[in-house]
Amino acid sequence: ASEQIDALFRTHIAEFPDFPIPGVLFRDITPLLRDAAALRAVIAHWRTLLPEGVDYVIGTEARGFVVGAPLAYEIGAGFVPVRKAGKLPGSPAGLTYDLEYGTARIEIPEGSLPAGSRVLLVDDLLATGGTAAATLELARRFDVEVLGASFLIELAALGGRDLLPGVEVSTVWRIE
Ligand code: PRP
Ligand code: ADE
Repeated sequence: ASEQIDALFRTHIAEFPDFPIPGVLFRDITPLLRDAAALRAVIAHWRTLLPEGVDYVIGTEARGFVVGAPLAYEIGAGFVPVRKAGKLPGSPAGLTYDLEYGTARIEIPEGSLPAGSRVLLVDDLLATGGTAAATLELARRFDVEVLGASFLIELAALGGRDLLPGVEVSTVWRIE
């Protein structure tokens, strides 16, 4: 399976130098998403890397939704969206965190994670790890058990795993 998956990544992930800012090599997953057979093959393989017993998959806006919801469906878990600020009704819980320049705020629906529930973070890409670390910090305020974090693509050179100490991290495609 993994040779087939590697081939899919080589042919279905587009690279855009200097997007969105100079110096960044942007990895575009949209060619993979729009190919029905490729999408099916990648989700089917990815689910084999996930832990058992997940109650909730949490995914961060926007690309974390696209990959998180089908995985949650596949493993029989619920899906909880972590959104950029100002999108959720009611009294969401929020966390402001530092970016390279400035800050960002993420929010999670009120009451969305019962204490003791088992949570898996899913996102399309692990780069610096800032988004994943902030998402897990927010989830942990609900006294959940974090079973792991799983990414479609890991940009290993950026060391994102180092921001997730004690978290079981899996990735479908690791780029050195
Ligand atoms: C991308 C990606 C991850 C994050 C990874 O999202 O989907 O969530 O960046 O980067 P990091 O490890 O350095 O934090 P982005 O903020 O571009 O938003 P999008 O999903 O709305 O495109
Ligand atoms: N998010 C953070 N870094 C990225 C990259 N290089 N390509 C695509 N998404 C990203």
